[in-house]
Amino acid sequence: MKRRLPRPRELAPLMQFKRPRIFDRRIARLEAALTIEDLRKIARRRTPKGPFDYADGAAEDEISLARARRAFQDIEFRPAILRNVAAVDTAVEIFGGASRLPFGIAPTGFTRMMHAEGELAGARAAARRGIPFSLSTMGTESIEDVRAATPDGRLWFQLYLWRERERSMELVRRAASAGYDTLLVTVDTPVGGARRRDKRNGMTIPPALTFKTIVNAIPRAEWWINFLTTEPLRFASLDHWSGTVEDMIDTMFDPTIVFDDLAWIREQWNGRFVVKGVQTLDDARRLAELGVDGIVLSNHGGRQLDRAPVPFHLLPEVKRELGSDVEIAIDTGIMDGAAIVAALALGARFALVGRAYLYGLMAGGEQGVDRALTILEDQVVRTMKLLGVASVAELGPQHVTQLRPLTPWIRP
Ligand SMILES: Cc1cc2nc3c(=O)[nH]c(=O)nc-3n(C[C@H](O)[C@H](O)[C@H](O)COP(=O)(O)O)c2cc1C
Repeated sequence: MKRRLPRPRELAPLMQFKRPRIFDRRIARLEAALTIEDLRKIARRRTPKGPFDYADGAAEDEISLARARRAFQDIEFRPAILRNVAAVDTAVEIFGGASRLPFGIAPTGFTRMMHAEGELAGARAAARRGIPFSLSTMGTESIEDVRAATPDGRLWFQLYLWRERERSMELVRRAASAGYDTLLVTVDTPVGGARRRDKRNGMTIPPALTFKTIVNAIPRAEWWINFLTTEPLRFASLDHWSGTVEDMIDTMFDPTIVFDDLAWIREQWNGRFVVKGVQTLDDARRLAELGVDGIVLSNHGGRQLDRAPVPFHLLPEVKRELGSDVEIAIDTGIMDGAAIVAALALGARFALVGRAYLYGLMAGGEQGVDRALTILEDQVVRTMKLLGVASVAELGPQHVTQLRPLTPWIRP
Protein backbone atom coordinates (compact mmCIF):
# COMPACT_ATOMS: atom_id res chain seq x y z
CA MET A 1 0.00 0.00 0.00
CA LYS A 2 1.47 3.33 -1.05
CA ARG A 3 0.91 6.08 1.51
CA ARG A 4 0.85 9.86 1.16
CA LEU A 5 0.06 12.84 3.32
CA PRO A 6 -3.59 14.00 3.21
CA ARG A 7 -4.05 17.31 1.39
CA PRO A 8 -5.99 20.08 3.20
CA ARG A 9 -8.25 20.52 0.10
CA GLU A 10 -9.41 16.91 0.41
CA LEU A 11 -9.96 17.12 4.14
CA ALA A 12 -12.18 20.20 4.07
CA PRO A 13 -15.38 18.46 2.87
CA LEU A 14 -14.94 15.73 5.48
CA MET A 15 -14.87 18.16 8.36
CA GLN A 16 -18.39 18.65 9.61
CA PHE A 17 -17.98 20.13 13.04
CA LYS A 18 -21.29 21.55 14.13
CA ARG A 19 -21.57 24.89 15.87
CA PRO A 20 -22.39 24.13 19.50
CA ARG A 21 -26.05 24.81 20.19
CA ILE A 22 -26.02 26.67 23.45
CA PHE A 23 -29.42 28.29 23.32
CA ASP A 24 -31.45 25.51 21.79
CA ARG A 25 -30.12 22.58 23.71
CA ARG A 26 -33.60 21.23 24.21
CA ILE A 27 -34.21 21.11 20.46
CA ALA A 28 -30.82 19.50 19.83
CA ARG A 29 -31.53 16.91 22.51
CA LEU A 30 -34.94 16.11 21.06
CA GLU A 31 -33.71 15.95 17.49
CA ALA A 32 -31.12 13.42 18.54
CA ALA A 33 -33.94 11.12 19.66
CA LEU A 34 -34.77 8.79 16.79
CA THR A 35 -37.21 6.52 18.59
CA ILE A 36 -39.77 6.68 21.38
CA GLU A 37 -37.35 4.62 23.46
CA ASP A 38 -34.73 7.38 22.97
CA LEU A 39 -37.28 9.89 24.28
CA ARG A 40 -37.97 7.60 27.22
CA LYS A 41 -34.29 7.67 28.16
CA ILE A 42 -34.19 11.46 28.06
CA ALA A 43 -37.44 11.56 30.05
CA ARG A 44 -35.93 9.37 32.73
CA ARG A 45 -32.92 11.63 33.11
CA ARG A 46 -35.03 14.77 33.39
CA THR A 47 -38.05 13.73 35.46
CA PRO A 48 -38.02 12.87 39.16
CA LYS A 49 -38.30 9.18 39.88
CA GLY A 50 -41.81 9.35 41.37
CA PRO A 51 -43.60 10.93 38.39
CA PHE A 52 -41.44 9.09 35.84
CA ASP A 53 -42.22 5.70 37.36
CA TYR A 54 -45.88 6.65 37.68
CA ALA A 55 -46.02 7.08 33.90
CA ASP A 56 -43.58 4.35 32.91
CA GLY A 57 -44.81 1.70 35.31
CA ALA A 58 -47.73 -0.69 35.21
CA ALA A 59 -49.55 -2.99 37.63
CA GLU A 60 -48.18 -5.92 39.66
CA ASP A 61 -45.36 -7.63 37.73
CA GLU A 62 -46.00 -5.44 34.67
CA ILE A 63 -46.62 -8.54 32.56
CA SER A 64 -49.63 -7.09 30.72
CA LEU A 65 -47.56 -4.21 29.43
CA ALA A 66 -44.50 -6.27 28.54
CA ARG A 67 -46.65 -8.77 26.62
CA ALA A 68 -48.57 -6.07 24.80
CA ARG A 69 -45.34 -4.47 23.63
CA ARG A 70 -43.85 -7.81 22.73
CA ALA A 71 -46.88 -8.77 20.66
CA PHE A 72 -46.17 -5.87 18.32
CA GLN A 73 -42.64 -7.16 17.86
CA ASP A 74 -43.78 -10.71 17.22
CA ILE A 75 -45.22 -10.01 13.83
CA GLU A 76 -44.02 -10.39 10.33
CA PHE A 77 -44.98 -7.90 7.68
CA ARG A 78 -45.77 -9.13 4.20
CA PRO A 79 -44.93 -6.28 1.86
CA ALA A 80 -46.32 -5.88 -1.64
CA ILE A 81 -43.78 -4.79 -4.21
CA LEU A 82 -43.93 -2.60 -7.29
CA ARG A 83 -46.68 -0.28 -6.10
CA ASN A 84 -46.70 3.45 -6.61
CA VAL A 85 -46.21 4.88 -3.14
CA ALA A 86 -44.84 8.30 -4.06
CA ALA A 87 -47.64 9.85 -2.01
CA VAL A 88 -49.16 8.19 1.01
CA ASP A 89 -52.52 9.18 2.48
CA THR A 90 -52.56 8.57 6.22
CA ALA A 91 -55.91 10.22 6.94
CA VAL A 92 -58.80 8.32 8.52
CA GLU A 93 -62.36 8.97 9.60
CA ILE A 94 -62.88 8.11 13.23
CA PHE A 95 -65.87 8.61 15.51
CA GLY A 96 -67.59 10.97 13.13
CA GLY A 97 -64.65 13.19 12.25
CA ALA A 98 -61.36 13.32 10.44
CA SER A 99 -57.88 12.63 11.72
CA ARG A 100 -54.87 13.37 9.54
CA LEU A 101 -53.08 10.37 11.04
CA PRO A 102 -54.46 7.01 12.16
CA PHE A 103 -53.61 7.66 15.81
CA GLY A 104 -54.39 10.12 18.56
CA ILE A 105 -53.42 10.90 22.13
CA ALA A 106 -54.87 8.65 24.85
CA PRO A 107 -56.33 10.13 28.04
CA THR A 108 -53.80 10.26 30.86
CA GLY A 109 -54.33 11.57 34.35
CA PHE A 110 -52.08 13.94 36.33
CA THR A 111 -50.25 14.98 33.19
CA ARG A 112 -48.91 18.23 34.67
CA MET A 113 -47.07 16.15 37.18
CA MET A 114 -45.04 14.58 34.38
CA HIS A 115 -44.21 18.02 32.99
CA ALA A 116 -45.55 21.44 33.93
CA GLU A 117 -46.78 22.04 30.36
CA GLY A 118 -49.13 19.10 30.84
CA GLU A 119 -52.30 18.60 28.85
CA LEU A 120 -52.00 21.91 27.02
CA ALA A 121 -48.76 20.72 25.42
CA GLY A 122 -50.40 17.50 24.22
CA ALA A 123 -53.55 19.21 23.02
CA ARG A 124 -51.66 21.86 21.07
CA ALA A 125 -49.26 19.38 19.49
CA ALA A 126 -52.18 17.13 18.52
CA ALA A 127 -54.17 20.03 17.04
CA ARG A 128 -51.18 21.17 14.96
CA ARG A 129 -50.99 17.71 13.49
CA GLY A 130 -54.72 17.37 12.91
CA ILE A 131 -55.24 14.45 15.31
CA PRO A 132 -57.53 14.12 18.34
CA PHE A 133 -56.46 14.74 21.91
CA SER A 134 -58.27 13.00 24.80
CA LEU A 135 -58.62 14.75 28.13
CA SER A 136 -58.89 12.49 31.18
CA THR A 137 -61.36 12.93 34.02
CA MET A 138 -58.16 13.01 36.08
CA GLY A 139 -56.68 15.70 33.85
CA THR A 140 -54.78 18.54 35.47
CA GLU A 141 -56.13 21.27 33.19
CA SER A 142 -59.76 22.19 33.03
CA ILE A 143 -62.03 21.14 30.19
CA GLU A 144 -62.44 24.78 29.19
CA ASP A 145 -58.74 25.67 29.34
CA VAL A 146 -57.81 22.80 27.04
CA ARG A 147 -60.47 24.00 24.61
CA ALA A 148 -59.22 27.59 24.85
CA ALA A 149 -55.68 26.41 24.05
CA THR A 150 -56.88 24.60 20.92
CA PRO A 151 -59.96 26.38 19.58
CA ASP A 152 -59.97 24.30 16.37
CA GLY A 153 -58.55 21.05 17.73
CA ARG A 154 -60.48 17.80 17.92
CA LEU A 155 -61.03 16.99 21.58
CA TRP A 156 -62.40 13.86 23.22
CA PHE A 157 -63.37 13.58 26.86
CA GLN A 158 -62.69 10.47 28.92
CA LEU A 159 -65.15 9.69 31.69
CA TYR A 160 -64.61 7.84 34.92
CA LEU A 161 -67.85 7.42 36.77
CA TRP A 162 -67.51 8.65 40.33
CA ARG A 163 -69.44 7.26 43.24
CA GLU A 164 -71.00 10.72 43.21
CA ARG A 165 -72.41 10.11 39.77
CA GLU A 166 -74.00 13.51 39.33
CA ARG A 167 -70.64 15.20 39.78
CA SER A 168 -69.10 13.19 36.96
CA MET A 169 -72.05 13.90 34.68
CA GLU A 170 -71.51 17.59 35.33
CA LEU A 171 -68.11 17.16 33.65
CA VAL A 172 -69.76 15.46 30.71
CA ARG A 173 -72.06 18.44 30.27
CA ARG A 174 -69.12 20.83 30.44
CA ALA A 175 -67.26 18.79 27.82
CA ALA A 176 -70.30 18.91 25.55
CA SER A 177 -70.63 22.65 25.83
CA ALA A 178 -66.91 23.09 25.16
CA GLY A 179 -67.34 21.19 21.89
CA TYR A 180 -65.67 17.89 22.75
CA ASP A 181 -67.09 15.51 20.14
CA THR A 182 -66.50 12.03 21.60
CA LEU A 183 -66.96 10.52 25.04
CA LEU A 184 -64.66 7.65 26.01
CA VAL A 185 -66.14 5.84 28.99
CA THR A 186 -63.38 3.89 30.72
CA VAL A 187 -64.64 0.68 32.28
CA ASP A 188 -61.56 -1.23 33.40
CA THR A 189 -61.08 0.43 36.80
CA PRO A 190 -63.48 -1.12 39.35
CA VAL A 191 -60.49 -0.90 41.69
CA GLY A 192 -57.05 0.62 41.30
CA GLY A 193 -54.37 -1.65 39.83
CA ALA A 194 -51.48 -2.45 42.16
CA ARG A 195 -48.85 0.02 40.99
CA ARG A 196 -45.94 -1.28 42.99
CA ARG A 197 -43.44 1.27 41.81
CA ASP A 198 -45.65 4.03 43.20
CA LYS A 199 -45.88 2.30 46.56
CA ARG A 200 -42.15 1.73 46.72
CA ASN A 201 -41.40 5.31 45.70
CA GLY A 202 -43.92 6.66 48.19
CA MET A 203 -45.47 8.44 45.21
CA THR A 204 -48.37 10.61 46.22
CA ILE A 205 -50.40 13.24 44.41
CA PRO A 206 -49.01 15.87 44.61
CA PRO A 207 -45.44 14.56 44.99
CA ALA A 208 -44.17 15.04 48.53
CA LEU A 209 -40.87 16.71 49.32
CA THR A 210 -38.96 14.12 51.33
CA PHE A 211 -35.25 13.58 51.80
CA LYS A 212 -35.31 10.96 49.02
CA THR A 213 -37.17 13.15 46.54
CA ILE A 214 -34.91 16.10 47.24
CA VAL A 215 -31.76 14.05 46.57
CA ASN A 216 -33.37 12.73 43.41
CA ALA A 217 -34.30 16.31 42.42
CA ILE A 218 -30.76 17.66 42.38
CA PRO A 219 -29.94 16.63 38.79
CA ARG A 220 -33.53 17.35 37.70
CA ALA A 221 -33.73 20.97 38.68
CA GLU A 222 -35.70 22.14 35.64
CA TRP A 223 -38.63 19.88 36.51
CA TRP A 224 -38.75 21.17 40.09
CA ILE A 225 -38.36 24.81 39.09
CA ASN A 226 -41.26 24.38 36.65
CA PHE A 227 -43.31 22.51 39.21
CA LEU A 228 -42.81 25.02 42.00
CA THR A 229 -43.21 28.15 39.89
CA THR A 230 -46.41 27.20 38.02
CA GLU A 231 -50.00 26.87 39.23
CA PRO A 232 -50.41 24.05 41.74
CA LEU A 233 -51.86 20.82 40.31
CA ARG A 234 -55.49 21.43 39.56
CA PHE A 235 -57.88 18.77 38.39
CA ALA A 236 -60.50 18.86 35.71
CA SER A 237 -62.82 17.27 38.19
CA LEU A 238 -61.79 17.24 41.81
CA ASP A 239 -60.46 20.06 43.88
CA HIS A 240 -57.54 18.37 45.52
CA TRP A 241 -56.24 15.05 46.68
CA SER A 242 -53.37 13.90 48.80
CA GLY A 243 -52.55 10.22 48.69
CA THR A 244 -51.67 7.54 46.17
CA VAL A 245 -53.48 7.12 42.89
CA GLU A 246 -54.49 3.59 43.81
CA ASP A 247 -56.21 4.88 46.96
CA MET A 248 -57.84 7.65 45.01
CA ILE A 249 -59.38 5.17 42.56
CA ASP A 250 -60.66 3.03 45.41
CA THR A 251 -62.17 6.00 47.20
CA MET A 252 -63.68 7.93 44.33
CA PHE A 253 -64.52 5.52 41.51
CA ASP A 254 -67.87 3.77 41.34
CA PRO A 255 -67.28 -0.01 41.38
CA THR A 256 -70.99 -0.75 40.83
CA ILE A 257 -71.20 0.43 37.23
CA VAL A 258 -72.78 -2.19 34.92
CA PHE A 259 -73.89 -2.45 31.29
CA ASP A 260 -77.31 -0.97 32.06
CA ASP A 261 -75.71 2.24 33.30
CA LEU A 262 -74.29 2.95 29.87
CA ALA A 263 -77.73 3.86 28.54
CA TRP A 264 -78.13 6.37 31.38
CA ILE A 265 -74.80 8.02 30.53
CA ARG A 266 -75.57 7.98 26.86
CA GLU A 267 -78.89 9.79 27.31
CA GLN A 268 -76.91 12.73 28.58
CA TRP A 269 -74.41 12.89 25.71
CA ASN A 270 -75.12 13.84 22.12
CA GLY A 271 -71.73 13.10 20.60
CA ARG A 272 -70.05 9.80 19.76
CA PHE A 273 -70.19 7.26 22.55
CA VAL A 274 -67.20 4.94 22.94
CA VAL A 275 -66.33 2.37 25.62
CA LYS A 276 -62.64 2.11 26.52
CA GLY A 277 -61.10 -0.93 28.17
CA VAL A 278 -62.80 -3.77 26.27
CA GLN A 279 -60.87 -7.00 26.80
CA THR A 280 -62.96 -9.92 25.54
CA LEU A 281 -64.88 -10.77 22.40
CA ASP A 282 -68.05 -11.38 24.44
CA ASP A 283 -68.01 -7.92 25.93
CA ALA A 284 -67.26 -6.37 22.55
CA ARG A 285 -70.27 -8.20 21.13
CA ARG A 286 -72.49 -7.06 23.95
CA LEU A 287 -71.48 -3.45 23.47
CA ALA A 288 -72.12 -3.71 19.74
CA GLU A 289 -75.62 -5.00 20.53
CA LEU A 290 -76.16 -2.03 22.82
CA GLY A 291 -75.34 0.17 19.86
CA VAL A 292 -72.25 2.01 21.08
CA ASP A 293 -70.44 3.91 18.34
CA GLY A 294 -67.04 2.51 19.13
CA ILE A 295 -64.87 0.47 21.44
CA VAL A 296 -61.26 0.76 22.49
CA LEU A 297 -59.57 -2.59 22.90
CA SER A 298 -57.28 -1.76 25.79
CA ASN A 299 -55.97 -3.07 29.06
CA HIS A 300 -55.21 0.43 30.26
CA GLY A 301 -51.56 0.19 29.33
CA GLY A 302 -51.16 -2.77 31.70
CA ARG A 303 -51.96 -0.55 34.68
CA GLN A 304 -54.98 -2.47 35.95
CA LEU A 305 -55.28 -6.27 35.63
CA ASP A 306 -51.91 -7.96 35.20
CA ARG A 307 -51.74 -10.88 32.75
CA ALA A 308 -54.69 -9.30 30.94
CA PRO A 309 -55.48 -10.18 27.32
CA VAL A 310 -53.17 -8.55 24.81
CA PRO A 311 -55.42 -6.12 22.88
CA PHE A 312 -53.51 -6.72 19.64
CA HIS A 313 -54.30 -10.44 19.90
CA LEU A 314 -58.00 -9.76 20.36
CA LEU A 315 -58.17 -7.57 17.33
CA PRO A 316 -58.57 -10.07 14.46
CA GLU A 317 -61.41 -12.00 16.10
CA VAL A 318 -63.24 -8.89 17.26
CA LYS A 319 -62.97 -7.47 13.76
CA ARG A 320 -64.09 -10.74 12.18
CA GLU A 321 -67.10 -10.94 14.48
CA LEU A 322 -68.20 -7.33 14.57
CA GLY A 323 -67.20 -6.25 11.08
CA SER A 324 -68.27 -2.68 10.69
CA ASP A 325 -70.96 -2.68 13.41
CA VAL A 326 -68.72 -0.62 15.69
CA GLU A 327 -65.57 1.32 15.08
CA ILE A 328 -62.62 -0.41 16.73
CA ALA A 329 -59.76 1.51 18.23
CA ILE A 330 -56.85 -0.05 20.10
CA ASP A 331 -54.18 0.93 22.60
CA THR A 332 -51.57 -0.51 24.99
CA GLY A 333 -47.99 -1.18 24.10
CA ILE A 334 -47.64 1.03 21.04
CA MET A 335 -44.08 2.29 20.94
CA ASP A 336 -43.64 2.88 17.21
CA GLY A 337 -45.46 3.61 14.00
CA ALA A 338 -45.03 0.08 12.69
CA ALA A 339 -47.20 -1.16 15.57
CA ILE A 340 -49.91 1.29 14.53
CA VAL A 341 -49.74 0.09 10.92
CA ALA A 342 -49.92 -3.54 12.05
CA ALA A 343 -53.02 -2.77 14.16
CA LEU A 344 -54.71 -1.06 11.23
CA ALA A 345 -53.93 -4.00 8.98
CA LEU A 346 -55.59 -6.40 11.40
CA GLY A 347 -58.78 -4.39 11.68
CA ALA A 348 -58.35 -1.40 13.97
CA ARG A 349 -59.55 1.86 12.57
CA PHE A 350 -57.50 3.93 14.96
CA ALA A 351 -54.83 3.70 17.66
CA LEU A 352 -54.27 5.67 20.84
CA VAL A 353 -50.86 6.31 22.33
CA GLY A 354 -50.35 6.93 26.04
CA ARG A 355 -46.77 6.59 27.17
CA ALA A 356 -45.30 7.29 23.72
CA TYR A 357 -46.69 10.80 24.10
CA LEU A 358 -45.81 11.11 27.78
CA TYR A 359 -42.17 10.18 27.17
CA GLY A 360 -42.01 13.04 24.67
CA LEU A 361 -43.68 15.39 27.14
CA MET A 362 -41.29 14.47 29.95
CA ALA A 363 -38.31 14.73 27.59
CA GLY A 364 -39.10 18.28 26.50
CA GLY A 365 -42.60 19.64 27.11
CA GLU A 366 -44.60 20.61 24.04
CA GLN A 367 -41.57 20.33 21.76
CA GLY A 368 -41.04 16.85 23.12
CA VAL A 369 -44.60 15.87 22.27
CA ASP A 370 -44.03 17.28 18.77
CA ARG A 371 -40.94 15.13 18.48
CA ALA A 372 -42.82 12.01 19.61
CA LEU A 373 -45.58 12.64 17.08
CA THR A 374 -43.05 13.28 14.31
CA ILE A 375 -41.26 10.02 15.10
CA LEU A 376 -44.53 8.08 15.02
CA GLU A 377 -45.77 9.81 11.86
CA ASP A 378 -42.52 9.17 9.97
CA GLN A 379 -42.59 5.53 11.03
CA VAL A 380 -46.21 5.10 9.93
CA VAL A 381 -45.52 6.66 6.53
CA ARG A 382 -42.31 4.71 5.96
CA THR A 383 -43.86 1.40 6.99
CA MET A 384 -46.85 1.98 4.68
CA LYS A 385 -44.55 2.76 1.76
CA LEU A 386 -42.43 -0.30 2.42
CA LEU A 387 -45.60 -2.39 2.53
CA GLY A 388 -46.60 -0.97 -0.83
CA VAL A 389 -49.79 0.75 0.31
CA ALA A 390 -50.70 4.30 -0.60
CA SER A 391 -53.63 4.73 1.80
CA VAL A 392 -54.84 3.36 5.12
CA ALA A 393 -57.83 1.73 3.39
CA GLU A 394 -55.47 -0.49 1.40
CA LEU A 395 -54.05 -2.07 4.55
CA GLY A 396 -55.43 -5.52 5.28
CA PRO A 397 -54.72 -8.80 7.07
CA GLN A 398 -52.66 -9.89 4.07
CA HIS A 399 -49.97 -7.48 5.27
CA VAL A 400 -49.33 -8.95 8.72
CA THR A 401 -48.72 -12.36 10.22
CA GLN A 402 -48.83 -12.70 14.00
CA LEU A 403 -46.04 -15.02 15.06
CA ARG A 404 -46.58 -17.77 17.54
CA PRO A 405 -44.82 -17.03 20.88
CA LEU A 406 -47.61 -14.97 22.37
CA THR A 407 -50.56 -16.27 20.40
CA PRO A 408 -53.22 -17.83 22.61
CA TRP A 409 -53.59 -21.47 21.59
CA ILE A 410 -56.67 -22.39 23.62
CA ARG A 411 -59.47 -19.92 23.91
CA PRO A 412 -62.64 -21.18 25.62
C1 LIG B 1 -49.63 7.86 33.29
C2 LIG B 1 -50.88 7.29 32.72
C3 LIG B 1 -52.11 7.78 33.15
C4 LIG B 1 -53.28 7.26 32.61
N1 LIG B 1 -54.49 7.79 32.99
C5 LIG B 1 -55.62 7.37 32.40
C6 LIG B 1 -56.86 7.98 32.70
O1 LIG B 1 -56.93 8.93 33.49
N2 LIG B 1 -57.98 7.50 32.08
C7 LIG B 1 -57.93 6.47 31.18
O2 LIG B 1 -58.97 6.06 30.64
N3 LIG B 1 -56.76 5.88 30.88
C8 LIG B 1 -55.61 6.32 31.45
N4 LIG B 1 -54.43 5.74 31.11
C9 LIG B 1 -54.40 4.68 30.08
C10 LIG B 1 -54.24 5.28 28.69
O3 LIG B 1 -55.39 5.98 28.31
C11 LIG B 1 -53.99 4.18 27.65
O4 LIG B 1 -55.00 3.22 27.74
C12 LIG B 1 -52.62 3.51 27.82
O5 LIG B 1 -51.65 4.45 28.21
C13 LIG B 1 -52.20 2.84 26.55
O6 LIG B 1 -51.01 2.16 26.71
P1 LIG B 1 -49.57 2.77 26.29
O7 LIG B 1 -49.17 3.68 27.40
O8 LIG B 1 -48.70 1.59 26.17
O9 LIG B 1 -49.76 3.53 24.99
C14 LIG B 1 -53.24 6.24 31.64
C15 LIG B 1 -52.00 5.76 31.22
C16 LIG B 1 -50.82 6.28 31.73
C17 LIG B 1 -49.51 5.76 31.23
